Amino acid sequence: MNTNTAFQASFDALIQTALPEVDHRPVARPAFTLGAERLGDVVSREALLDLAMGANRKRKSSEKLRRGRKPAEGLALVARDEADQLVGTVRLWNVRLGDGVQALLLGPLAVEPSTKSGGIGSALMRQAITEATRLGHCAILLVGDPGYYERFGFSAAKTGDLAMPGPYERHRFLALELVEGWLDGAKGTLKASGRKVSEVVARAG
Ligand SMILES: CC(C)(COP(=O)(O)OP(=O)(O)OC[C@H]1O[C@@H](n2cnc3c(N)ncnc32)[C@H](O)[C@@H]1OP(=O)(O)O)[C@@H](O)C(=O)NCCC(=O)NCCS
Repeated sequence: MNTNTAFQASFDALIQTALPEVDHRPVARPAFTLGAERLGDVVSREALLDLAMGANRKRKSSEKLRRGRKPAEGLALVARDEADQLVGTVRLWNVRLGDGVQALLLGPLAVEPSTKSGGIGSALMRQAITEATRLGHCAILLVGDPGYYERFGFSAAKTGDLAMPGPYERHRFLALELVEGWLDGAKGTLKASGRKVSEVVARAG
């Protein structure tokens, strides 16, 4: 091996070890559309949530604020793929903060596991925030990973004097003000304040 060849071989070896392997195949981004949840979506939405979040999902303290209630008007959103299959879901719920201030609680947010990192979660979050603002809501709260939700403007800065009605991790209790200052001085435990399922059924009957 001459000097040039030896240099090239050791250079190649160095590059192989210094650079992580990169897959240059085009990344398939799932095609999807966003829209309102339909009555017929309930079974697929529940199946998707079981798949994405596991069976323990109903033990969360957020569930106490959702049980027996309807989501806030116009704020049950889904993503569908090209075959019209449900691939993402997010819902928001009316809550009253301890001292009477009204807000929304967001969750659960989930996407079909095979579509993860395809942008569906972000699209649902942005649509939820836009719609909540358009409908005149003033703040959104949620319990979730700051590493994901901070990109949409959520933080724990305004939730220090608020509490969920059950166990939760304080650093994961986040809020986004849609109206600046809405959560200033807000304190107390969240309570469900949305339409009860029974009221909706009674009105429909
Ligand atoms: C969280 C979830 C909804 C995100 O949906 P998605 O369509 O995969 O999200 P997006 O494609 O918009 O964003 C993906 C990015 O978020 C990151 N991300 C996903 N979950 C995250 C988390 N918990 N913490 C920090 N970052 C996270 C991914 O690493 C990815 O980063 P990249 O863009 O740098 O590659 C989805 O992963 C999911 O359904 N998870 C299971 C259910 C769940 O945990 N729901 C949230 C409860 S807190």
